[in-house]
Amino acid sequence: MKILFVCLGNICRSPTAEAVLRHLANSVGINLTVDSAGTAAYHLGKAPDERSQQTALKRGISMSHLQARQVTANDFLEFDFIFAMDQANYHDLSVLAYSSADSGANKAKLVLFLDEFGTKGYTEVPDPYYGDGDGFELVLDLLTDACHGFLNNLEDKKNNSGSNK
Ligand code: 4NP
Repeated sequence: MKILFVCLGNICRSPTAEAVLRHLANSVGINLTVDSAGTAAYHLGKAPDERSQQTALKRGISMSHLQARQVTANDFLEFDFIFAMDQANYHDLSVLAYSSADSGANKAKLVLFLDEFGTKGYTEVPDPYYGDGDGFELVLDLLTDACHGFLNNLEDKKNNSGSNK
């Protein structure tokens, strides 16, 4: 299964989500392909924001190898799920999904990630970029919670279907 997280810049929220889900999936032996991208092209090729990196490192998760890229219409053909971090990302992705001649072949299900899998009363991951360090802790807390929710949901589906996929 292939999962893509998308935020605006791909240097704070979505790379954090990518690193957290990969870390959690590895720790419980679930095989997933995880990636992230931004709706904007502001930070192409850059590593995640230093504040995101430091916050994740405190919990044993390294993000230094990740590089920002922009989401493309092709991603809808490649991924099974595209998880938007906020409503603006969700809207931009909905427009992108129908922008290509191939859109009839789209595979990805577009989901507002916290709305579906979060349990902490947030439907969006607040953009931490212009705020202080606490915003980055909140992002990590919300994403860790929702990644657990997503993995639990996958496990439930697997157990109910009796399949190993
Ligand atoms: P992200 O945060 O979407 O979580 O990566 C942002 C990063 C950069 C900018 C905005 C949000 N920016 O305006 O450059």
